[in-house]
Amino acid sequence: MANRIPEEKVEEVRSAVNIADFVGQYVQLKKAGKNLFGLCPFHEERTPSFSVNEQKQIFHCFSCGRGGNVFSFVMELENLSFPEAIVKVADFGHIDLPATYTAQTQPAAPKDQQQADLLKLYADSAKMYQHILVNTELGEPALKYLHDRGLDDETIETFGIGYAPANQLLLDFFKEHQTDYQLLRQSGLFIENQAGDLRDRFVDRVLFPIKDASGRVIAFSGRILTKSPDEPKYLNSPETKLFNKRSVLFNFDLARGAVRQDKSVILFEGFMDVIAAYRAGIQNGVASMGTSLTDEQIYMLERITDTLYVCYDSDMPGQKATDRALKLLDGNSRLNLGVIQMPDGMDPDEYLRATDKEKFVQVFEDGKQTPTAFEMQYLKHDLNLQNTQDQLTYLEAVLQQLSKLSSSVEQDLYLNQLVSEFNLDKDDLKQQLRSLIGQQAVQRSHRGPSQSQSTSSMVPPPEPMPDEPPMAQGEGPTNNNGPLSRVEKAERLLLYRLLNDHDVWLRVMAIAGFHFVHDPYQQVLVFAEAYFKTHNQFELGSFTDFMTDSSLQHVVTSLEFMDVASESSKEEIADLVNVIMNQQPLVEQIQGKKAELTAAKQIGNHDLVQQLTLALIELYRQQQQVQQAGN
Ligand code: GTP
Ligand code: MN
Repeated sequence: MANRIPEEKVEEVRSAVNIADFVGQYVQLKKAGKNLFGLCPFHEERTPSFSVNEQKQIFHCFSCGRGGNVFSFVMELENLSFPEAIVKVADFGHIDLPATYTAQTQPAAPKDQQQADLLKLYADSAKMYQHILVNTELGEPALKYLHDRGLDDETIETFGIGYAPANQLLLDFFKEHQTDYQLLRQSGLFIENQAGDLRDRFVDRVLFPIKDASGRVIAFSGRILTKSPDEPKYLNSPETKLFNKRSVLFNFDLARGAVRQDKSVILFEGFMDVIAAYRAGIQNGVASMGTSLTDEQIYMLERITDTLYVCYDSDMPGQKATDRALKLLDGNSRLNLGVIQMPDGMDPDEYLRATDKEKFVQVFEDGKQTPTAFEMQYLKHDLNLQNTQDQLTYLEAVLQQLSKLSSSVEQDLYLNQLVSEFNLDKDDLKQQLRSLIGQQAVQRSHRGPSQSQSTSSMVPPPEPMPDEPPMAQGEGPTNNNGPLSRVEKAERLLLYRLLNDHDVWLRVMAIAGFHFVHDPYQQVLVFAEAYFKTHNQFELGSFTDFMTDSSLQHVVTSLEFMDVASESSKEEIADLVNVIMNQQPLVEQIQGKKAELTAAKQIGNHDLVQQLTLALIELYRQQQQVQQAGN
């Protein structure tokens, strides 16, 4: 292997990038006290227990115990090696690394070889399909099709669009490269007949790569060039080890940055709509795989934003789908919702082609509707409002909607609209609304506290416990959620002091036989000993990298999130050492032994007297050492 990235370079990258900005690409962070909080990206949760400390440039999850610096964050999240993590963070901070470092980064040791092989297979296929589209005669009709739909070469490149020609090339390509048959079978790129022979799945289709959150191709969706009644317009890869369509959003990888910047995401119906908007500079768009949003997808979006706009086709089926999406999201997420609609029953892609960029972008700026405004319009579709009966039906449905609003200002706004539209008495309407709200309150109280009462804003957790246990394996602390034992509390505080105050380090390390009770702390101590041989001063960031073991990184980071006095006293250290070495204060032990000694003398048990005396001497010796360490 080539030479490693030197520590100065690592340091340069670390100090140039603020962890809050980097993590902010993946997690929506909000200030609470001195830390930032968000939903942990490593596990499912509904209340934020993931925390970032900007001052120390570390993260820690109070729920799963993970923690570390910016490099450990991206290593764990994206399963990268250390050098890869540095490259990624450097890239984010626009820091140039010499090509010798970027070129040598090996892919992370795959946790799962088959998965890595599949990823490679998809990456190669995407390259090959794009090559056919862009550079070959075979691809010409497809390229023309895309150009006619307004996609320029840059867009084709950005989205990695390709073409699977009619004369199936993929199978031969991989056969030539002697790719494993079983891998090909499992890839979903081929269709297998009864005899086990394979043929290309995608034939004469424009291919849109489907990527995971890190931008790796995990599937394709292929669009037919000319509509046919016998074949589906879009054909997707089947589910594989890589591809679970419930948890994939088209363009999520590219949209993430813009979502963060705009503080909102736009949900489109089709891939072509996402791409159209992207071309016009609206880059915070995603689409599901032609199905309604799943919990997993909602969850992915909740992590990076507060606000979602539904921008489906503005024809009738699109409006129905919008209504459904709003109801689904209202019940299953904490996202603030809105609707954006194209004019004249068009989908965004059609509208962009029918008009110019400026007008198109304008719709996204001016055309935002609240869900209520959308519903008030949508409810009219099946009704004839000239007819009194239909008018009443409409008013009742709208008032139902309004009764669910939490803002009385908003209620008032729509009441005014109804008053002027139907020439009604406002007090009557208000009265009716109030009685509806009353009925609902009664129903709720019968049902007990309801889940759908969740507030729309993120609630920061109660001040996190200052002393959360680390998640460590082995003979370590076993109970991850229960209160910490006295010994463990002492261990955590002492370890913190040892690392951060070198005088304490020198004094405690001079105590013969000092060691921690629980494995993880002792392991950190051993790492620290090695670290101090090559580093004069403790530096959290570089120590975290130095340890490499992620579970120990979690331990050390969790220490930094404790609420501790900035200065330690000698008594404090002596007490801590005491508790740890004896798991019972020395004084108490000495008193105990003295009492036993008195008893042994009284009954005249000389052996015991001798044994206890020796034990007492040992205890006195320890006490003296501890006192010296404290002085
Ligand atoms: P274009 O006709 O290419 O503009 O497609 P569109 O983006 O307007 O798609 P449409 O509104 O017809 O459908 C929206 C989304 O539903 C598409 O992006 C696909 O994900 C999905 N979809 C549409 N047709 C099919 C189909 O025949 N099969 C499958 N599996 N999905 C489809
Ligand atoms: Mn379309």
